Formats: sequence, C-alpha cells, structure tokens
Amino acid sequence: MTKRVALVTGGTGGIGSAICRELCSRGHTVVAGYYPPEKEAAEAWQKQKRDKGFDIGLAAIDVSDFADCERAVNQIGGEFGGVDILVNCAGITRDGTLKKMSEANWTAVIKTNLDGAFHVTRHVINGMLDRGWGRIVNIASVNGQRGQFGQANYSAAKAGMHGFTMAVALETATKGITVNTVSPGYIATAMTEAMPEEVLKSIINSIPMRRMGSPDEIANAVGWLASEENSYTTGANIPVNGGLFASH
Ligand code: CAA
Repeated sequence: MTKRVALVTGGTGGIGSAICRELCSRGHTVVAGYYPPEKEAAEAWQKQKRDKGFDIGLAAIDVSDFADCERAVNQIGGEFGGVDILVNCAGITRDGTLKKMSEANWTAVIKTNLDGAFHVTRHVINGMLDRGWGRIVNIASVNGQRGQFGQANYSAAKAGMHGFTMAVALETATKGITVNTVSPGYIATAMTEAMPEEVLKSIINSIPMRRMGSPDEIANAVGWLASEENSYTTGANIPVNGGLFASH
C-alpha cells in the first residue's frame, strides 16, 4: 500500500474523528482540519487520539473562506506533503422551518457545507491532477437525497454537494482521481444529540434498522472509497443510512 497524505475537514467532529482513525489505521498520514476558533479543543482532541495510538496532524481551516483554504492547503503541503485524499466532512446545521429561516442561517449552512467543499477541493485538485492520483469523498446526508422538514438550507447544501461530486468526477475520470459522495443517515454524534429528543425518537422509529448509525459505519465506507482498491467507482452517492432512504 502506498502511504498517502489525507486531509479530513471537520476532522475533529463525530464522523470526522472516525474517518481520521480509519485512514490512520490504513497507514496514511492524516491531517484533521478544524474550525480556527476551536484551536484549544482541537489540540485536546489530538492529544487524546495520540494517547490511543493515532498520530493525527492538525490544520486550522475555515472552509467557508476561500482564501483561508488556499493558505491552509499550502501550509499542509509544506508540513506534510500534497493532499492525495480529501474528505470534505466539515458541516453545520441551523435547523428551522423555511417560514422562520433567517438569511444568516441559510447563508451559514450553504457557505460551510457546500461552498466549503468547493473551496478546499479547488485548492487540492491541481496537485492531484499533477500527480495523477487522488481520492475525494464528500460527506453529504440522507437529507440531501430526500429532504427533511426544518432543513431547507441543509438539504439544499447536501444535495448540491452531490451535484459537485458528479461534475468533478467527470472532469477527473481519466486522471487517476475518483470523486464520490457518502450520504450518512442519522449517526450518533453531537449534531444529532442537539436535536429535540421527541423528534429524534420519532425519526429512529422510522429507520428500518430501528437504530442510529455509528461514526465507524460511515468511516468504513469512506476508507474503501479513498483506497487503491476503489479504482472504478466514481461519481457515486453511497447511502449509509440503515435503510432510511433507498435510492436507485
Ligand atoms: N413533518 C411534518 N410536520 C411537522 C414535522 C415533520 N417532521 N415536524 C414538525 N411538524 C409540524 C408541527 O406539528 C407543527 O405543526 P402545527 O403548526 O400545525 O402545530 C409545525 O410543524 C411546527 O412548525 P414550526 O415552524 O413551529 O417548527 P418548530 O419551531 O417547532 O421546529 C424544527 C421545527 C426546528 C425543524 C424541529 O422540528 C427540528 O429540529 N426538527 C429536526 C430536523 C432534523 O431532522 N435535523 C437533523 C439534524 S442532524 C443532521 O442534520 C445530520 C444528518 O445529516 C442526518
């Protein structure tokens, strides 16, 4: 196996942490991107991971800021090497019905979840093209595939991410690069913990497997998509959702 450099944005979050561990276990150099104001928490996270045997680098990246992504990707290049594997996992929610949704809550979600994927990918793509190898995995959501009450902003951003995946997959298909989406269902993380308890309970009842997913179940899918073995899957949207939404 060739050792690669992997960048996971939102790497210190619930799903991001599991993806960092998975890529680390596969022998790669892994860098977790974190939101710059959360430096202290990110350093504590890094120490905790090191104590468990996962040596993961850190990089401050505000994915919503195009220029900051350029700075961060250059810095990672100098410190760790060019990014071969990119997992766009940074994401936020600002739930609310459309009739009450502020422009700020719409914009925050689109800028972080959708623009963020463009901003980071734009700065790593030329290096991947030059080296003739790359793996990009965009973490979207079941709610981008089917819509969700109270998530007009989030559903739009996550559906948009997969449009981005499909277009970039076409542009890179002959260049040794695969680009795919993983669409998680409801996964046990701080993001779903923040939901109203009753709403979450009723959603779990509607999941055919009758349980939430674990971050490791997402990381397994990402690990394979980002590997050498995945040499022929590109432009796909892989659902990991306990049967909540069966796409064709
Ligand atoms: N379907 C249909 N109607 C619903 C509904 C639903 N799922 N949920 C609420 N309603 C109805 C209520 O019964 C109520 O009806 P009446 O007006 O007739 O009484 C009305 O909608 C309430 O509307 P409001 O605008 O007042 O909504 P609210 O302020 O009570 O809160 C909400 C709405 C903030 C969206 C809340 O329902 C909520 O947080 N829902 C969770 C959304 C969700 O799934 N988020 C996922 C977060 S995790 C994640 O995003 C990760 C991932 O990828 C899966």
